[in-house]
Amino acid sequence: MAITFDDDLEVFAIYTENTTYAFQLREQRPLHLFWGEGHLLPADLPIDEQVASHRHEESVRVERHKEEFAAAGGYQFGQPSLKVQFEDGVRDLDLRFSSWSSEATTADSETLVVSLRDAHYPVTVQLYYRTYADSDLIDRWTVIDTGVPLTVEAVMSASWYPRGGRGHRLTHLSGRWGAEHRIERLPLTQTRVVLDSRHGVSGHDANPWFAIDEAGAATEETGRVWFGALHWSGNWMITVEQDRWDQVRVTGGYNTFDFQTRLGPGEQHTTPVFTGGFTTGGFGAASRMLHRYHRSRLLPKHWAAQARPVIFNSWEVFWFDINAGQQMRLAELAAQAGAEVFVVDDGWFRGRHDDTAGLGDWEPDPNKFPEGLLPLSREVQRLGMTFGLWVEPEMISRDSDLYRDRPDWTIGFPTREGTEVRNQLVLNLARDDVREWTATWLTRLIRDNEIGYLKWDMNRYITEPGYLGASGQDTRLWIDYVRNLYAVFAQLKETFPSLLIENCCSGGGRADFGLAPYTDLVSRSDNGDALDMLKLHEGYTQAYAPITAGGGIGENPNGINGRIAPLTYRAHAGMLGAFHISVNLTTMRGDEFEKLVELVRVYKSIREIVHFGDLHRVASAWEGPYAVYQYVTPDRDRSVVLAFGQALQFQHIIPAQRLRGLDPDATYDVEGYKPMTGRALMSLGLPLELRGDFDSRLVRIDRVGT
Ligand code: DGJ
Repeated sequence: MAITFDDDLEVFAIYTENTTYAFQLREQRPLHLFWGEGHLLPADLPIDEQVASHRHEESVRVERHKEEFAAAGGYQFGQPSLKVQFEDGVRDLDLRFSSWSSEATTADSETLVVSLRDAHYPVTVQLYYRTYADSDLIDRWTVIDTGVPLTVEAVMSASWYPRGGRGHRLTHLSGRWGAEHRIERLPLTQTRVVLDSRHGVSGHDANPWFAIDEAGAATEETGRVWFGALHWSGNWMITVEQDRWDQVRVTGGYNTFDFQTRLGPGEQHTTPVFTGGFTTGGFGAASRMLHRYHRSRLLPKHWAAQARPVIFNSWEVFWFDINAGQQMRLAELAAQAGAEVFVVDDGWFRGRHDDTAGLGDWEPDPNKFPEGLLPLSREVQRLGMTFGLWVEPEMISRDSDLYRDRPDWTIGFPTREGTEVRNQLVLNLARDDVREWTATWLTRLIRDNEIGYLKWDMNRYITEPGYLGASGQDTRLWIDYVRNLYAVFAQLKETFPSLLIENCCSGGGRADFGLAPYTDLVSRSDNGDALDMLKLHEGYTQAYAPITAGGGIGENPNGINGRIAPLTYRAHAGMLGAFHISVNLTTMRGDEFEKLVELVRVYKSIREIVHFGDLHRVASAWEGPYAVYQYVTPDRDRSVVLAFGQALQFQHIIPAQRLRGLDPDATYDVEGYKPMTGRALMSLGLPLELRGDFDSRLVRIDRVGT
């Protein structure tokens, strides 16, 4: 890891563990040179001495410039990194290099700041680049300062330039409720592709992550992949452009939809971080790099190094129909099954009988919990579990005391009725008084009820994005809402460092790096169908660490597809991430219950490997009737393979699966097989004899000698 500047060539080179990221100053503009493998010297780089100003040169040359920060101005026609309008009507920026600095941010990270300044107006743009030891990731963001009033129409966190060329392929994640994180691939052509969300949350439809592989040739194990993830939980966009010279540029930041923000003299704005990386090791290596970063740089510190507990939550079974007696009984059984957290989901609060009322009045329903929640919390703790509670703090129902008292706290426009979804409206968290109120009642609720686990849900998108009853109708609402959301989370984590927080947004609707510093796990999806889970996990883990992937055993038949699957298969699927149980323990047959107890015990014996190991997606559920996941500890001493077959026909025997990431020279004990060397396991493979329907295997692999 090093950041250098070559005075003669005016080249900045950022060296990560295995890559070089370089740009040069030409005519006071930072122009991108290279991002790829190897540590290249400035003299090795494709410096074009003929580079000319983008205002006075032959168009072909100018068009081929790769501006590190392409502000709208001059001969620029792509997605602008910054677009402003000055008070005098000028809508053109002419940013020139003014200075740079670099410093060690921590013992293992370094930051470069390159400052640009407009040739006429007192507007400064600082480009940040942060690198980390042991990683090929770079965090980038932008800070704007202005000395004059202006309107910002677009401001992006960063642009990335994968190597140009025809036939590159874009991989992205799309979906909807119950079907998040679906892997989509499309060839890049000379066009502009926009991945985005306008929902007020990062969204189910698209996830703020991308990968581009050279010539569409990468596999899970090999090939050049440029990838990145934006740390933002509201409206975002990632634009992928291939221009007339086959140059590829990826630009990410706030969505420009309904975006216009005014900055006054002396004001500053900092964009979200956009993390990017490059690998020659295919999609698998790209994911593992992001997983390590997610675990070691982003996750809240208290739980970062501890495996996630087993969670019981009765939502899938009883929905809103819960009460103290029933939850006490379930808690007893959940504890016997091996659960470590017992979560009371939606339906516990005053006014909530279905999904029509009460959001905002966060008091226990006296009919369901006549003595409040504390006796249940105490009982759960007496049983050796942590007490967890579901909340949906960003919502307000018309039929609530909160709405009757403070209708102006609702997001909406004064002349519009306001769309209700799930009979819910959204609280205007962009207001600081709402932020304070939210943090206050949550703090009280957590303290009074000895809550150790908070499931934070968000079940509707933002519509009519205005301030009811307050002055100003600024589109800053989109940004301020998310910033205040982060502020509430930060306050809760500061007050209760050991509080585990689950990020749920109708399942995985807000799975992103923006919330990662405040949330310990994510509801990957509401979809508890074991077969679907294999695909959901593959998509989720493109970017996000398995330790955060909440999911597990759901009801059987499962509501999503009506599918019936054996308990072992469902449990094995649940073991791919952070294990949850959501089944009716009161009606479970004795032998099934015993089996569940055993499966939870097995899970606990492997979860350290799953949560802190490297993930290798050995066979994809998207590609055939079986899927194989393998996790390996960083010291390569322990590994676990989880394999799943479904609808295997004609005596189909799946080929031996070549494992990965082991020490070739070590001998391993392979559960259920004879001992094998790492070399044999990775070359011959592991013969997994899956057959027919819903067949699954869990194979533990432990080093016994070198
Ligand atoms: C959506 C969540 O994803 C579910 O897990 C559950 O908590 C419901 N909301 C409750 O309304």
